[in-house]
Amino acid sequence: MRQLILAANWKMHKTVDDAEFFLKRFMEEPSGITGLELVFCPPFTALYPMAQLIKETPFVLGAQNMHWEKEGAYTGEISPLMLRELGVRYVILGHSERRRFFREQPQEISLKVASAFNFGLNPILCIGETEEERRQGHTEKVLCRQLREALADSLHIDKEHASKLVIAYEPVWAIGTGLAASGKDAGEAAAIIRSYLAELLDKERAAVIRIQYGGSVNSDNILDFVSLPDIDGALVGGASLKPGSFKELILALDRLRRS
Ligand code: PGA
Repeated sequence: MRQLILAANWKMHKTVDDAEFFLKRFMEEPSGITGLELVFCPPFTALYPMAQLIKETPFVLGAQNMHWEKEGAYTGEISPLMLRELGVRYVILGHSERRRFFREQPQEISLKVASAFNFGLNPILCIGETEEERRQGHTEKVLCRQLREALADSLHIDKEHASKLVIAYEPVWAIGTGLAASGKDAGEAAAIIRSYLAELLDKERAAVIRIQYGGSVNSDNILDFVSLPDIDGALVGGASLKPGSFKELILALDRLRRS
């Protein structure tokens, strides 16, 4: 059984003060999160204070990027070792905003994924097609290419490591636009992803990899995605920024689990 995983991608939002305020509000009432892995991915600057605040909670921490080397002359970068030291467990890699605004290249993403495994961090690898690629009927080709490129240095992973890998299917046109994919489109994409993972790795390893949907997820639409057989959670941007809206999302998941 793959465990449901919900990750909050705060992007470049929240100072340390804001992050602490959010967490205190969020933890005021218990939110019924049993059976759900809940990952907060704040900016680097808030990782350490958040690690202190969530020590006694079931929540886990994720970073939004990292360099693949352990250390070195790479001004402005953060290494996997530095993340590990703070208790970070997950790292978002290859987000479309990094590919687009920071020209992150497929080879770098592949090195980062492999390095995450080496340093005991769980990669949340983001892939997804643009609006134009979907219109031209290239979605499947793009998803397979991005998977092949990003996993090029990790094809040898064993089943244990595969179970730590999360693939976030995030159609670029759905991110931050309020226009989420339909459950049908997301489900088809997730099925393509799992079957291509089975080709790249094998069926057994593909079966334990978790797939999230991301792109304008909110409490009204989350069940359209996580009720699908190949989707095991969501990567949430905008709706994770306020304690109220994020809690609503979790309550919606809880209703699904009870039904
Ligand atoms: P969104 O962002 O939920 O605001 O669309 C998702 C993401 O970029 O991970």
